[in-house]
Amino acid sequence: MIEAADIQITKVETSKLKDLELNNVPFGKYFTDHMLEADFENGEWKNVEIKPYQPLLFQPSLAVFHYGQAIFEGIKAYRGKNNKVAIFRPFDNYRRFNLSALRMNMPEIPEEIFIQGIKQLVKLDEKWVPDGKDHALYIRPFMISTDPVLGVKPSSTYKFLIILSPSGPYYSRPMKIAVEEKYTRAAPGGVGYSKNAGNYGGSMLAATKAKEEGYDQVLWTDPFEHKWLQEVGMMNVFFIIDGKAITPSLDQGTILAGITRDSVIDLLQEMNIPVEERHINIDEIIQAHDKGTLQEVFGTGTAATIALVSDLKYRDINMHFDINNLKIAPSLKKQLIEIKEGRSEDKFGWMEYV
Ligand code: COI
Repeated sequence: MIEAADIQITKVETSKLKDLELNNVPFGKYFTDHMLEADFENGEWKNVEIKPYQPLLFQPSLAVFHYGQAIFEGIKAYRGKNNKVAIFRPFDNYRRFNLSALRMNMPEIPEEIFIQGIKQLVKLDEKWVPDGKDHALYIRPFMISTDPVLGVKPSSTYKFLIILSPSGPYYSRPMKIAVEEKYTRAAPGGVGYSKNAGNYGGSMLAATKAKEEGYDQVLWTDPFEHKWLQEVGMMNVFFIIDGKAITPSLDQGTILAGITRDSVIDLLQEMNIPVEERHINIDEIIQAHDKGTLQEVFGTGTAATIALVSDLKYRDINMHFDINNLKIAPSLKKQLIEIKEGRSEDKFGWMEYV
């Protein structure tokens, strides 16, 4: 068993941080001084090491380049009151990472490596955690298959890495969304619920085409009728209809079990807003819009936290939402950030201090 103390640490001689304005950085462009690396060989994890952030050297035959056994997580650390740094719900990401690993026929990672690895790495690069509005340290754990062979089979070796990126907001303005009726993100029995790289690669063409039409992202629908709603871009989706919150249920395995989604459900219940996790058809959304009961649409995810939707297009129908009149999504965003920055009580025990 790997203990926290077994993580070898080699520090940089000089930090790169001095050149960076931490509270004015885009999402995921700059990386901190250190990274974590571990190897899976002969059925066990070994060589757990924190070292200076650096390129990796691989054979062109590396399995992940060809057959895509690649999974990841997205987690954020915040600098809060009294300058203390805390990570939002890392144990939930740890559990989801191993669910993704199982689905992609990859080895599970022990909690000591995932959690202690993140905590030690964030502690070491603590001065990189921004304190500005909508800024945080984005934590990216990931695993790739590393056998240098072209046979199509699960790799016998893997690498687990964690890198850190001080990041600003993912979306700086409300999103315009088009309902997708041609391409499919996920089907029952597929890999939609896992956070594997291919889900993101497979989504890009639809997003690019939506951008060409003036939209920021698509609202994914089911693969058979293109009517049942799944996710919005790379996020979970919520609708506020007649005072109730409705979000697609996870039962078909087509939707990522978002940790922000789960947190939003807890906060909504605390606000006495009824929450329904169930199948939602686009026709129900159109009818609610026609009746004037469709109040808000928003996305939830680690990178964006809460992303407001200003426009939702389905065929020739455009549903517009006056951002200044939204109540629930902005309130959720505010409550979440106050908990994350230690400015309000962490009632749910979400924050893990480093
Ligand atoms: C998230 O918001 O958690 C995401 O997965 C987005 C990320 C791929 C940038």
